[in-house]
Amino acid sequence: YPTREFIKQLPKAELHLHLEGTLEPELKLKLAKRNNIAIGQETIEEVQESYQFDSLSSFLNVYYPAMNVLQTEEDFYELAWEYLKRAKEQNVKRAEVFFDPQAHTSRGIKFETVFNGYYRATQDSLKLGISAELILCFLRDMSAESAMETFEQALPYKDKIAGIGLDSDERSNPPSKFFDVFKKAKEEGFRITMHCDIDQENSIEHIRQALFDAKVERLDHGTNIVENPEFVAYVKENNIGLTCCPVSNSFVVEDMKGKEIIELLEQGVKVTVNSDDPAYFQSYISDDLYALAENYSLTTEQIIQLAKNSFEIAWIPEAEKENYI
Ligand code: HPA
Ligand code: ZN
Repeated sequence: YPTREFIKQLPKAELHLHLEGTLEPELKLKLAKRNNIAIGQETIEEVQESYQFDSLSSFLNVYYPAMNVLQTEEDFYELAWEYLKRAKEQNVKRAEVFFDPQAHTSRGIKFETVFNGYYRATQDSLKLGISAELILCFLRDMSAESAMETFEQALPYKDKIAGIGLDSDERSNPPSKFFDVFKKAKEEGFRITMHCDIDQENSIEHIRQALFDAKVERLDHGTNIVENPEFVAYVKENNIGLTCCPVSNSFVVEDMKGKEIIELLEQGVKVTVNSDDPAYFQSYISDDLYALAENYSLTTEQIIQLAKNSFEIAWIPEAEKENYI
């Protein structure tokens, strides 16, 4: 398999990255101090020790409280900007990044505070040679009404948002809970993607709803499609990409799902490798690619194919894709 340096230098698109998941311990401490927020931790080691989880829900239980340190537009800007600088080191040319407005509006932060900070960072990223776009995610463990409210808040910024996604705790929160708001989003011209997390209680049914009812353009994670040849044929025919996150998987389900990722790659599905929440899993996109390569002996050609796929399923105009690949 190729070297770490080869993987790092390979031009790539990152399509499954939660901005809130890029909160490094160092920045968390800095913002806590700046905003006078008591977080119960004083050193990087203490913060790192709190970053422990073995399931999606135990991860989310660390992830949401940490966000309290994010208060001002400048904080959101800084969070996104720090990520984009790291992305540049990984030779990320295109970043389509998730953000969770409800994780902030639910604790009294204004939508525009969050949005303006993040958006300004994506604009400034052009200076780094990265084109970056925002994907707004609804929290699926909040109500459909709350998602609709968030959608209304986002509408004035429609031209500055690349698409709409769905994340957070999938258990008992199927895509169907949000059909109304996703239908509206479609009517407004938004592109749609959804998390179909690994090995959920009703993974196959949730994937079915995402693909055939909500008609998503991508599946975030989604590797459980491998169990169903009908789904595999459908995503291939419709050029629906999967944004997989092997290191994240290794934390939340104790399995990178490398076997499944490779099987799908070999079947011609547009699978990609991404970092999900790099500060929490201590793995940026090249580390995810390297971990997969190392553990499953991927060939250089397979790694190149994964990087190529990332541009092919990115939400950039077809004509511009040639500039990247
Ligand atoms: N799944 C669900 N919710 C999330 C994730 C994820 O991978 N990352 C951040 N929030
Ligand atoms: Zn995710």
